[in-house]
Amino acid sequence: MPFDAFRYAHAHRGEVAWLSQNTNHLVPPEVVRGALEEAIRERRYEGYPYAPGDPELLERVARDLGLPGQTPFLTAGGTESLYMITRALLAPGDEVIASDPSYLIIHRFVELSGARTRNLDIYAPPYRLSAERVAEAIGPKTRMILLIDPLNPLGSGYPREEVRAIAEVAHDHHLTLLNDVTYRDFSDHASLAAQFAPEETITVWSVSKNCGLAGLRIGGFSARPELVKQLARFNTNDLGVNILAQVAANAALRTKSEWFGAVKRQTRENGARVKATVERVPGASLPVYPSQANMMVVDISRLGLSPEALQEELLLRHGVFVRAGNYLSPTHGAKFVRVSFSNPPADLDRFERAFPDAIAALAPRAPAPTA
Ligand SMILES: Cc1ncc(COP(=O)(O)O)c(C=O)c1O
Repeated sequence: MPFDAFRYAHAHRGEVAWLSQNTNHLVPPEVVRGALEEAIRERRYEGYPYAPGDPELLERVARDLGLPGQTPFLTAGGTESLYMITRALLAPGDEVIASDPSYLIIHRFVELSGARTRNLDIYAPPYRLSAERVAEAIGPKTRMILLIDPLNPLGSGYPREEVRAIAEVAHDHHLTLLNDVTYRDFSDHASLAAQFAPEETITVWSVSKNCGLAGLRIGGFSARPELVKQLARFNTNDLGVNILAQVAANAALRTKSEWFGAVKRQTRENGARVKATVERVPGASLPVYPSQANMMVVDISRLGLSPEALQEELLLRHGVFVRAGNYLSPTHGAKFVRVSFSNPPADLDRFERAFPDAIAALAPRAPAPTA
């Protein structure tokens, strides 16, 4: 049986530095603990939630996004929103303009609808889409543009003018613009496409990464009300989204402005440490720096190593869990690992020691790391 890195990492979760899923381990635990403890004391889990979602939470989400006229909808993570949107709006033969690398789970959902993605290669500067390339790629079957901003896995963020230009392309061609903004809070210049193309844009948001709630599985989308109705036909959470997740999301969003600044500062400091570590290994490099999200791609293609071998070496010998690139790019996945870093500094200490050691162990004839 092939080695199951996730099974191993979960079994050893107390000892593993989890740098593999862009999760956030920096949110002060008291932010949600009190609210969750109270909900558990009240045994709120015994009953179904109010099916459309806690109105206070929905109001907070709307305020957080700041998109007047757009209605938020709760789902079990942004993932379920992505599934609903692709199922509701795509038919066999349709095309979606997307990128490579990308968050490929969305591409898989597109394919489940019988549609296909047209992946524009962005593994070269500026490591993101441009309005010009998107416009050129539009054909008679194009129905949707996928704009993930900031982009998993590269960490590239779109300047406001580029978001506007892509939104204008969607508007001019009557295409749905799927704007996945899961990592928006980590960016220095996040702008929502819905500001520029409110009719065409569906904004997919999440509290998994900004609020450190990935395990609770709550997120959603936001769009103009008639479009929300159309998408809601594919809602599988007819009885509502997990009540404890709603309670936690509400508590986190209520206080986010008080603690997110510190999360972002630490994330950026950690990113600088990843960069310094990578620079000590000749042949390894970062295509994008600084990341506008909380992860980066580390290119190891010049070292002649497989990312899977590096992932396994780091995990088994050093307890450091990074992600091999094949999960994120059909074309370039063999060139990189992805490292995420919204983690306590001690996890970065471990990465700093482990990364050069693991490379040296796998490629004994590669040049020695510089001190
Ligand atoms: C771009 C992107 N969208 C959506 C998700 C999924 O988010 P959620 O945990 O809200 O389902 C991820 C998770 O890594 C992601 O990277």
